[in-house]
Amino acid sequence: MSSDRALARTIWWQNGVIYQIYPRSFRDASGDGIGDLPGISEKLDYCEKLGVDALWLSPIFPSPMADFGYDVADYTGIAPMFGTLADFDHLLAQTARRGMKLILDYVPNHTSYQHPWFTASSSGRENAKRDWYLWRDPAPDGGPPNNWLSNFGGSAWEWDATTAQYYYHSFLKEQPDLNWRNPEVVAAMHEVMRFWFAKGVSGFRIDVLWMLIKDDLWRDNPPNTAFQAGMPLFQSQLPLYTTDRPEVQDVVAGLRKVADEFEDRVLIGEIYLPLARLVAYYGKHLNGVQLPFNFQLLESKWNARSLAELIDRYEAALPAGGWPNWVLGNHDRPRIASRVGAAQARVAAMMLLTLRGTPTMYYGDELGMQNVAIAPDRIQDPLEKNVPGVGLGRDPCRTPMQWDASLHAGFSVHDPWLPISADADRINAQSEELEPTSMLSLYRCLLDLRKRYTALSLGGYRAVAACGDILSFIRYTQDERLLIVLNMGPNSAAFPLEGAGLAAAALLSTYLDQRIAMTPTHLCLRPNEGVILILETPLAAATR
Ligand code: NOJ
Repeated sequence: MSSDRALARTIWWQNGVIYQIYPRSFRDASGDGIGDLPGISEKLDYCEKLGVDALWLSPIFPSPMADFGYDVADYTGIAPMFGTLADFDHLLAQTARRGMKLILDYVPNHTSYQHPWFTASSSGRENAKRDWYLWRDPAPDGGPPNNWLSNFGGSAWEWDATTAQYYYHSFLKEQPDLNWRNPEVVAAMHEVMRFWFAKGVSGFRIDVLWMLIKDDLWRDNPPNTAFQAGMPLFQSQLPLYTTDRPEVQDVVAGLRKVADEFEDRVLIGEIYLPLARLVAYYGKHLNGVQLPFNFQLLESKWNARSLAELIDRYEAALPAGGWPNWVLGNHDRPRIASRVGAAQARVAAMMLLTLRGTPTMYYGDELGMQNVAIAPDRIQDPLEKNVPGVGLGRDPCRTPMQWDASLHAGFSVHDPWLPISADADRINAQSEELEPTSMLSLYRCLLDLRKRYTALSLGGYRAVAACGDILSFIRYTQDERLLIVLNMGPNSAAFPLEGAGLAAAALLSTYLDQRIAMTPTHLCLRPNEGVILILETPLAAATR
């Protein structure tokens, strides 16, 4: 264990690991087929033993569930299907008792159409809350005010016959966008943050942060010249006037100010933008969100060269003092084990937990859970229903957590809201707990190493010359130097050690056996193997 002094004063969201729970699918204690808060409380021992530091819950608020909770009807309540405020308080207290933090999802861009604010706003043009949403007159031809498209299909404008105007929705028509140019909206949404912070919530993951402000001149979005047949319609234009507007930075700074009224709270922004734009969300003076989600690993080609290049670009793009982060999966994207295969998923785990920055894990990835094919009559996701057949559906990565080999995988006594994977008899927490080389065992080892070696949690990062299928880097502090070597290919490969430095000891192989093979000059990697070594030589010669 390092005694590195310089890094002794750490912030939990920098050296910790975040674990995303999709509450509908984690554990159903009530027996209705849908996960809930008491279910999460039941599984806190599992989370603690896994070694994660913070739990992020996707939305748990009252909602008609048109978008499974990303359509909030009351920001300071709990959806009855998930439990009560008392269940929440219990969960929060039990999480804290185990030294873990709780992070909630904050959905500021839009409410549910059933939120009382929208009911009022849509009740008449003179209503005091009319300007809380984005209302516009029709175009001269009676059609939508401009060409803006919804991310969930069709026009982003919905006609309201009662008040004879259109309202704007970036997603479903059941999710009207709030008007963040209205100071009353800003104040009301700040109060929402204070409500949960005052309870002891440690932070928020902020939904579609880069979309909060739209062009105040309502200009048409330009066409996307790279658009091709088969792509979803909303990609036919560039979202120039609907996302990443310059004024959004003031909104972000305002949210951060509220977080800073409390001690040690974190804001994590959901932002899908190219790197150069993404890093703007740290804020000009680091007064933006502390962690603009880095989704590069979700989108990159899975080979050593592409990944080495993207890590370098990300590290280079970070502003001074900006803390990095990495994400391997979430409730909107295919599971990593399906994307790169079961064998590479182990290498991906090692990469996620050894790169510099805060890792976010997605529930079930630590078991090697795969996407589950969803029969047409079981489709739940509104995105798949609205934009079918182009692979946007998110149900496959949202299926119930696989706890054991019993009926419904120990998730529920009831038929679950999404099907259980056919591999649950093998891929489940209970069996993997007993299997020393399982994916679960690998994740536990990696999480344990992060706790034991400051070099991994907080240390510096240096790339090492990549060769062939091998990606390699060093993590270091004053006292520790660890070499990470990842074979991203299906063949054995020899990695020359002289470029990196002498290995003092082998720490871990993704195979979880003692058979790490080294000659005086080379590390011999098996197919799809990742290895962590302790180095004893100075760093100088090791960098690219
Ligand atoms: C991003 C969320 O991650 C996604 O699940 C949701 O559908 C949209 N935002 C709309 O809130």
